[in-house]
Amino acid sequence: MNAMSNSKPKNAVDLEQLKAEFKELDISLPKALWFNHPLQHYQGFWGPSIALENIIAFQTHFEAQDSDIILASLPKTGTTWLKSLLYTILNRKSTSLHTISQQVFQTKNPHELVPSFEFSIYKKFNETQPDLSDLPSPRLFSTHIPFLSLPDSIKSSKSRIVYVCRNPLDTFVSTWYFNLSFYMNKDMKPSMEMMEEYVDKYCMGLFLFGPYESHLLGYWKEHLQNPDRVLLLEYEGLKKEPKAHVRKLADFIGCPFSEEEENENVIEDVIKICSFQSLKEMDVNKNGKSNPFFDNNVFFRKGKVGEWKNELSPLMAKKLVQLLHGKLKEAGFAFTYYQPPDLSH
Ligand code: A3P
Repeated sequence: MNAMSNSKPKNAVDLEQLKAEFKELDISLPKALWFNHPLQHYQGFWGPSIALENIIAFQTHFEAQDSDIILASLPKTGTTWLKSLLYTILNRKSTSLHTISQQVFQTKNPHELVPSFEFSIYKKFNETQPDLSDLPSPRLFSTHIPFLSLPDSIKSSKSRIVYVCRNPLDTFVSTWYFNLSFYMNKDMKPSMEMMEEYVDKYCMGLFLFGPYESHLLGYWKEHLQNPDRVLLLEYEGLKKEPKAHVRKLADFIGCPFSEEEENENVIEDVIKICSFQSLKEMDVNKNGKSNPFFDNNVFFRKGKVGEWKNELSPLMAKKLVQLLHGKLKEAGFAFTYYQPPDLSH
């Protein structure tokens, strides 16, 4: 078949054939529910049913350019933060930092500035797919899709991928609150029992874009093989050493800070503009709405490392820590900036 069945996406698209193949595929894919989101198990990950056609359209139509910069992440690992940093680093010369903080970020949520392939760029088959060829270079996009399911066009280009990851305990807690904030979930009555059930689902990989381990390993392995093409950042590292990380990010995307900028503390300014406190206070993020499912403020909850301690039972924490000791450990992956708690007793 095509993009849908784990093989190569095709660029010459026969819409009717695509629809027929999708119909067949749609029936055969395993299905599940995650906080009322229907999911479908597609190419080894749990994709949102609502965006599955968009994902296939992305795999089928997207033509990468060598200058593209793509932010990849699992949900709730720091996507919003990285979007604001990448946007600011890239645009700081054409648009002053003052304008970015006082105008751009005052009126647009970071997700509007760095669009997602599967949620905002690509559409269902019957809709017109976008022509991205005229966008100014470098184009900046984001995705939650695992590395192996990215279009071949990205894999065979020299485009650069920034992957951000975060420890599974804080990521789970962030995911929990985020999903409860959807309008459609307002009647859910969260309890410890329900949380336990969702921890179990999370550990089984049964959540949006899960499993956790294969998502992280896919990008990590690519980073090991092609460090110039895939940069791997840890949320905890950005928190601990923001200046070194922002410098690294700028170097990686080909927009290094000059000596003059270093002397004028431009890196510190970028960090401040993109800080949790600063973004959270922007009117557009406090009171705005950029999609039909939830308010913008849900992207800014606590912004801390280790918040899980106030939320998870010891058993839940133990289960989530296990995610780091299984496939990830076997493959040789360990966080540099995150020391998992010892919960063995
Ligand atoms: P918490 O729920 O733990 O607070 P994503 O952007 O991938 O959806 O991840 C959201 C998480 O990143 C949330 O974590 C959110 O508060 C945090 N976050 C958002 N903006 C941030 C920023 N500028 N700095 C640090 N953390 C940020």
